[in-house]
Amino acid sequence: MTEIRLQNINQYFGETHILKNIDFTFLEGKFYTILGPSGCGKTTLLKIIGGFVNQTSGDLYFGDKKMNEIPANKRQVNTVFQDYALFPHLNVYENVAFGLKIKKVSKVEREARIKEALRFTNLTDFKYRDIEQLSGGQKQRVAIARAIVNEPDILLLDESLSALDHNLRVDMQYELKELQQKLGITFIFVTHDQEEALALSDEILVMDKGHIVQAGSPKDIYDEPLNKYVADFIGESNIVEGEMLEDGKVSIYGRAYECVDGGVKSGTPVEIMVRPEDIVLKPLEEGHLNVTVDSILFRGVHYEICVLDEDGYEWVIHTTQKTEEGKKVSIYFDKEDMHIMVPGEKEDEFNERLELYEGIL
Ligand SMILES: Nc1ncnc2c1ncn2[C@@H]1O[C@H](COP(=O)(O)OP(=O)(O)OP(=O)(O)O)[C@@H](O)[C@H]1O
Ligand SMILES: [Mg+2]
Repeated sequence: MTEIRLQNINQYFGETHILKNIDFTFLEGKFYTILGPSGCGKTTLLKIIGGFVNQTSGDLYFGDKKMNEIPANKRQVNTVFQDYALFPHLNVYENVAFGLKIKKVSKVEREARIKEALRFTNLTDFKYRDIEQLSGGQKQRVAIARAIVNEPDILLLDESLSALDHNLRVDMQYELKELQQKLGITFIFVTHDQEEALALSDEILVMDKGHIVQAGSPKDIYDEPLNKYVADFIGESNIVEGEMLEDGKVSIYGRAYECVDGGVKSGTPVEIMVRPEDIVLKPLEEGHLNVTVDSILFRGVHYEICVLDEDGYEWVIHTTQKTEEGKKVSIYFDKEDMHIMVPGEKEDEFNERLELYEGIL
């Protein structure tokens, strides 16, 4: 088992700075998800860990061993690519067997390991099927079987579920999570789907433009996003501007509210985030802010209600409470559900580190 340590990793393609000062340690045996918009560098980061791209600078360690010069085939890592990259002319069994044959693993051991990999991925009954005769989900399982048969310490999965339809995708999410727990190895999973990231991960790394903006448990990231970018990227959120008055007190539109955050200088402009599901509708004047109901959408489990406050800000609310368009009501949220963010805090820190690094380069 191996801990993966990325130290000051930078990646340039030509003049373009793709990964910027990546410092992160993946602990062994956990399910990590790298989440971020298209082009932010997720696949590049996986490829550096897998050994398919050599970083421009910085160090990669597996445990105490420096991996910078170690080729992909000498790393205890297997990758499941987005397009699965299966061999179409080989059947399921042969696809899974391929890597072991190349490595000249003995026939007896090979058979045992393939049997186990097929069992883990529920493919035993499909052993002799041609690849073209499999569904998307089955193909995905073959790709995973082909990776785990090598008994890697680390499995990298790049957008592995994105080709599947919604129901199958949810099924596969359960299977993937279960598989990771059974194998007990490190999974690093790449996706741009935030719900998937929340459902699967022990830890989520949110990336933006080559930076890791925040890393933490799904609950931490959802409840305590460091900035507006993370808050917006993970789930829906209402974000209004305000000012910190003192520890435990913040003002919104000039009105003081109790909050649970502190440690920010009095007078600092802040952003206050409230999740749509944390807002309660109350009769006019009985909540924090008076609002007018602008629109109501039925979403199955809840209504999605948009209301306008007196300053023209549109709040989104997820609730099972009923109301009517045009009605004047009031919104209320508990102090625990107000999350205070200081704009620019994290960006400043990043810029300082970046400048420092660029000075050395
Ligand atoms: N070999 C390469 N040569 C030049 N530019 C590259 C190369 N590989 C990636 N890039 C660029 O690096 C940036 C990050 O690419 P990457 O594939 O890591 O993004 P991603 O986060 O995986 O995006 P997506 O969600 O679309 O898969 C992109 O702008 C891409 O065009
Ligand atoms: Mg990618």
